[in-house]
Amino acid sequence: MQAKRIFELLLSIYERYNNMEKLVLGIESSCDETAASVLQWDGRQAKVLSERISSQNHRHENYGGVVPELASREHLTNLPIIVSNALKDASVSAEGIQLVAATRGPGLQGCLFMGYSFAKGFALAGDIPFIGVNHIEGHILVPLLDNPELTFPYLCLVVSGGHTEIHIVRDVGNYECLGRKIDDAAGEAFDKSARLLGLPYPGGPHLAKQADTVSSSRFSLPKVMRGENGFSFSGLKTAIRLLVEKQKLNSETIPEIAYTIQEAIVDTLLFKVNEAVKITGIQSIVTTGGVAANRRLREALGGIQGCKAYFPTNFHSTDNATMIGFVGALRHERGEVTDYDSEVRSRWLVEDIGGGN
Ligand code: KG4
Ligand code: ZN
Repeated sequence: MQAKRIFELLLSIYERYNNMEKLVLGIESSCDETAASVLQWDGRQAKVLSERISSQNHRHENYGGVVPELASREHLTNLPIIVSNALKDASVSAEGIQLVAATRGPGLQGCLFMGYSFAKGFALAGDIPFIGVNHIEGHILVPLLDNPELTFPYLCLVVSGGHTEIHIVRDVGNYECLGRKIDDAAGEAFDKSARLLGLPYPGGPHLAKQADTVSSSRFSLPKVMRGENGFSFSGLKTAIRLLVEKQKLNSETIPEIAYTIQEAIVDTLLFKVNEAVKITGIQSIVTTGGVAANRRLREALGGIQGCKAYFPTNFHSTDNATMIGFVGALRHERGEVTDYDSEVRSRWLVEDIGGGN
C-alpha cells in the first residue's frame, strides 16, 4: 500500500516538472451544465483524456427556462462529483494536474461563482497556475481542436441559447465583432418557438427533430434582419407566434410549422454569414455554440460557394469543459495566469479580453 502511494507521489512529481506535457483540468459552470475535462497539452496540441458533463435540464423543465438559484445549488452539489469522475476517467490523480482553467464569464453570476471558486480552491491546494476563461472564447477556439486543418483567420458564428454573434478570429485573443444579438439569441428563438408548439424543454433539438421529419411546408414566415447591423429575432418571434395561434396544432401541422421556423432561422443566419464573407473576403467559416448542432444549419452553411465550413463535434458545440481547458492551455502557453483574487464577470465581451497579437 505504502509502495503504491510512493509510486503515485513520484509520478505526480514527474508529471508536474516535466514541462513538455501538461495535464490541464477544465471546469465549466456558466449556465445549467456542470462540466469537467482533463486534457493533455504538449505545448502545441491538446488531447482530450476525459470529459464529464451533468446537465440540469430535468431541474428546469417545469419552469421553461433556467432558474439561476436552482442552477447554482446544483453546481455546488455536482462539481466535486463531476471533477473526481473526470480525473478517474483520465487515470490522473488530483496532484497530477498542472493547470486549472475555469469559466470566468459571461454567464449567470451565481453559477459562474460556484465553478470559479471550486477551481481556484483546487489550484490553490495544488499550488498550480490558474486561468479564468471567457466562455465565448471557448466556443470560438474549440473548433481548432476538432479540425486540425483549420487555421487563422476565420469567420466565427457563435449561436447558442444566450448568444448570437459573428467575429473575425485572427489569433488567440484577437477578435473583431461584426455583429451580435440585439434581443433574443438564435437558441432562444428555437426554444421559445418550440414552447409555443408544446414541445419539451430545451426546445431547440426537439423542434429540429420535428422539422426534419418533413421536406416541405404549406406555411411561410417573413424574411427578417435584412437591413440591420446586429441580429434581432424579435420580429420573427412575433410572426411565429401569430402563425402558431392561427393553426390547430396536431401531428400534421406541428412538423410543418417546425420546418418553416427552422428554415426562417437558418435563412437569417445564412444571410448574415454571406454578408460577412462579402465584407471580409474570409472564406473559412466556423459555426459554434449549441445551435451549431442543428443539422439543417450545418447543411446550409456548408453550401456557401467558395467557402469551407467548419464545426466542432456535436458534443463540443453545446456547453462543455473541454473548450475551457483548451483555452486555458493556449493562454498559459502565452505566459498568462489569472490571479486567485480575480472575480467572475457575468458580462464580458470576447473582443474585450485582449492578450492577442
Ligand atoms: O451553447 P449552449 O449549450 O448553451 C448556451 O451557452 O446557451 O446552447 C444551448 C442552445 C439551446 O437554446 C438549445 O435549444 C440549442 O442550443 N440547440 C439547438 C440544437 N441543439 C441545441 N437548436 C437547434 N437545433 C439543435 N439541434
Ligand atoms: Zn455556451
